[in-house]
Amino acid sequence: MKIAKRMDIIKTVFVAEMNMRLNKMREEGRDVINLGVGDPDFTPPANLLQVLTDEAQQPDHHHYPSFYPNRPLKEAIAGWYRRRFSVDLDPNTEVLPLLGSTDGLFLIHLCLLDPGDVALVPDPSYPSYEVGVKLMGGQVEWITLSKENGFLPDLDSIPTDIARRAKMFWINYPNNPTGAVATPDFYKKLITFAQTFEVIVVSDNAYSEIYFDGRRPVSFLEFPGAKDVGVELHSLSKTFNCCGWRAGMLVGNKDIISGMTKIKSHSDRGMFYPLQVASLRALNSSLDFIQERNQAFQERRDVVVKGLRGIGLEVFPPQATFYLWARVPPGYTSQDFCLQALEQSNVWMIPGSVYGKYGEGYLRIALTQPVERMAEAMERLKKITISS
Ligand SMILES: Cc1ncc(COP(=O)(O)O)c(C=O)c1O
Repeated sequence: MKIAKRMDIIKTVFVAEMNMRLNKMREEGRDVINLGVGDPDFTPPANLLQVLTDEAQQPDHHHYPSFYPNRPLKEAIAGWYRRRFSVDLDPNTEVLPLLGSTDGLFLIHLCLLDPGDVALVPDPSYPSYEVGVKLMGGQVEWITLSKENGFLPDLDSIPTDIARRAKMFWINYPNNPTGAVATPDFYKKLITFAQTFEVIVVSDNAYSEIYFDGRRPVSFLEFPGAKDVGVELHSLSKTFNCCGWRAGMLVGNKDIISGMTKIKSHSDRGMFYPLQVASLRALNSSLDFIQERNQAFQERRDVVVKGLRGIGLEVFPPQATFYLWARVPPGYTSQDFCLQALEQSNVWMIPGSVYGKYGEGYLRIALTQPVERMAEAMERLKKITISS
């Protein structure tokens, strides 16, 4: 059978292969600590689980979602953006609920790119951006994120001819995998860049509610002119510890929202109604649990920072996200070091090369295990042999 050639763009995912290997190791009786998982180990707040259960029990809540008005959820999203970021959104024209931000993250390329169009994609970055651009026939121009620049794109170093050809620009802060956050100055400069070169900004803000030391990350849409040049993806997944729900949103520029609404009227039939109600409640609920949850992430972060520094690694303590980015020891590729650590200590960390060429030389740890397990992982790493 001959399927489309474009399928060759999607390579077998190394992380998926590794998860199979980890399962096999567990079956063989090895006590593997998986520090790769980007899914919180905490549960959604109990009141939200109750809403989901109650709504699912209603016999008339199981029709196609288009049967129910989606305005209440859109209003809840607009309300969240107003309270959290002081951003005003028109629920009718500037808000689109998504089946997780991945939904919009993939389809946005269909909305923005014609074949051959250029997309600026950070390196390292979340691998789905590259795949989305290429599957739609777009061309990727990589924008390096370096430690010297705080893992932010250096907008001044983007060659003018590339900026002129670019149609869209992927931005993701708080950042996966580096844990970096964007400053207000960066966003202001980005908006000027987007206006100058007529580039559409797509900001992926999935991690805004996982932050440390009380420093709440901002949204790209907070800055003047943002809505004219772009949109933001947001998600309930990490905020409410509910990655499995598949609830997210796209907000901002109304032409893009209108295009994406058309696309999604064909690609899905909307969000399961009980989930719409639970999402709405989540967005309107008290966020007190977030402080305590983030405190737990912070405690884990501090254990890992100390542990990795103890074995001589250079660490970039995150200001937000539950990821920690560190350099592998000199003389190793990221993959070699992570595989060796797995073999010798049963601790799995993700090689930075999974996230791009400039991720080489780094590793990513997810702070998604209880603090005792994180501490145990650090103890085990102390014992591995690091050749110099
Ligand atoms: C940077 C980034 N964007 C988007 C997503 C997707 O999140 P969602 O669960 O909302 O689809 C993830 C998931 O890990 C992510 O790391």
